[in-house]
Amino acid sequence: FLASKNGSNMQAIIDACADGRIPASPSLLICNNPTAFAAARARAAGLTVEILNGKTHPNPSDLDLAIEEALLAHQIDLVILAGYMKRIGKRVLSSFSNRILNIHPSLLPKFGGRGMYGIRVHQAVIQSGESETGATVHLVNERYDEGPILQQRSINVDSEDTPEALQQRTLVLEHSLYPDTIAKIAKGEIDLPDP
Ligand code: GRF
Repeated sequence: FLASKNGSNMQAIIDACADGRIPASPSLLICNNPTAFAAARARAAGLTVEILNGKTHPNPSDLDLAIEEALLAHQIDLVILAGYMKRIGKRVLSSFSNRILNIHPSLLPKFGGRGMYGIRVHQAVIQSGESETGATVHLVNERYDEGPILQQRSINVDSEDTPEALQQRTLVLEHSLYPDTIAKIAKGEIDLPDP
């Protein structure tokens, strides 16, 4: 996992591995923020936590290399971005090509791209008068929210919805969509493109 914040999606995936819904074993969290709740959650679940960021590695290409080395050292098959607020470097993108997943809280390609994160996504959905929104799990390539879509799930937007309410309901959706997508990959029901 790479995470920066609360880590609730990571937790949902760890739980699904623990109860057998996902035939996989989570082993490593790379976290840029030492005080993120995600780091505490990962330690509690017995994962190795590596804090790698602009302080530990001021040069971005050194940071990219350190992340790649950590992933390789732990023999990671699938990299799960779970609320990771930093860009993935070229080296990691190329070593783990078509093996990096992200979840985005909208029905991509709508409401993705630059500046579309957190509550802003849900504000934009409401401002645009959309009747539905949802979440998308996609592969990560150099063009952030534009990688191939693996699965999406939608919910209705109600006229009385606030951005906060929508964010909350979307997050609940994410907690089933993300583990389900990973389970399908692990079971061979979703085929990832060749690396
Ligand atoms: C989620 O809304 C996810 O879609 C986005 O970042 C948020 C992470 O939440 N990429 P959490 O840290 O998993 O609770």
